[in-house]
Amino acid sequence: MSKLDQSVFRSRRERLVQAMGSNAIAIIATRDEMYRNRDADYKYRADSSFYYLTGFDEPEAVAVLETDENGDYSYTLFCRERNRAMEIWTGYRAGIEGVLAEYDADQAFSIEDLDDEIVPFLLNKEKLFIRFGQIKKFDVRIGEWCNQANKKQRQGGGAPQQIIQLDAILDEMRLIKSAEEIELMQIAANISAKAHTRAMQAVRPGMMEYALEAELNYIFGQQGCVPSYNSIVGGGANGCILHYVENNKPLRDGDLVLIDAACEYQCYAADITRTFPVNGQFSAEQRALYEVVLKAQLAAIEATQVGNHYRHPHEIVTRILTEGLVDLGLLSGEVNELIEAEAYNQFYMHGTGHWLGMDVHDVGTYKIDGQWRPYQAGMVVTVEPGLYIQPDDETVDAKWRGIGIRIEDDVVVTEQGPRVLTKDVVKSIDDIEHLMRH
Ligand code: GLY
Ligand code: MN
Ligand code: MN
Repeated sequence: MSKLDQSVFRSRRERLVQAMGSNAIAIIATRDEMYRNRDADYKYRADSSFYYLTGFDEPEAVAVLETDENGDYSYTLFCRERNRAMEIWTGYRAGIEGVLAEYDADQAFSIEDLDDEIVPFLLNKEKLFIRFGQIKKFDVRIGEWCNQANKKQRQGGGAPQQIIQLDAILDEMRLIKSAEEIELMQIAANISAKAHTRAMQAVRPGMMEYALEAELNYIFGQQGCVPSYNSIVGGGANGCILHYVENNKPLRDGDLVLIDAACEYQCYAADITRTFPVNGQFSAEQRALYEVVLKAQLAAIEATQVGNHYRHPHEIVTRILTEGLVDLGLLSGEVNELIEAEAYNQFYMHGTGHWLGMDVHDVGTYKIDGQWRPYQAGMVVTVEPGLYIQPDDETVDAKWRGIGIRIEDDVVVTEQGPRVLTKDVVKSIDDIEHLMRH
């Protein structure tokens, strides 16, 4: 799919300025470039909210949106100037003319002139919307600009009197995905599902975890995508380490392997976990625990419905996991009391999901006025229950130890019920064993 049309970004800016009201200004910076070590840098990825509003993915850029007393608005972009010598080293820049022509800016300035040019924008505005607390250096600079604007008081100037967190508005906008955003997320999900399928087909006992990770990266790379977070490929007990990313151990015959990996497409992320046997066949214990997690996951997906509150799927998951753990003898006691005491924490210590979008742990509050918020159409959430029996857990029979299982899908809330974006990768025991045999 080609890049989103500028009209999409423009309508986002229009919605934002409407929410800001008249006589206001918003200043939004993108992320800095980052070094990995010495002068070797990470591949650049724009700040998600900046990109959401601009579609502009070059570093060193600042967007300014301002409204006048009538609520009319203008959009100014500060960007890197074109520079032939630099472009020979680091690549094409849109430059001032480019952002005016291709990115719909009403005005553009060199980023080098930001400190000088921005102060007049602040004069006589009532409200200043910023993303305070995200980039420390930038917070300090905004403070300096306000200070300079105030020095112009005797000439009738002055900095805005109200400073408001822009993210409160922006995050709510990003939380509800439009049809074109869901389309991009579906593409990210499809590519990621293909990568998991390939991993299931490629795994062999003795293979290194990183070699299996390479099978995923092959599919991502073939589609011009990068992982949306560091891939987790954990064999056996490594599957019990929630953020295991070393991926440097051999995969053993008889163990499960847990893969939590996905890519992003045009800055929209997928997030998938599958757990499957290295040799293609679940053992009795692996099967028993897997069935419990899968039952919990299917029920939680079903509960991801308009009107249900955010935490409802988690409550369903903790009940089903607790019942399963009691049935299998890993917990003992009365189910309601065990849930009340959160006894499942021993084996299930994370939440059941999070918002998903341009960021893998996407923006948006989870509570409103102290209450879990209800699901609305257009929200996208992950559903990812798991069970992790630590290898040194002496409270359970030895046969269970070192088994880690998580199953994670990406779900869009719709008026017609949950829509699973990641359904293309199998997850029932029969389907996994069947795929791995062929
Ligand atoms: N892959 C990160 C998560 O599942 O939350
Ligand atoms: Mn997740
Ligand atoms: Mn995940």
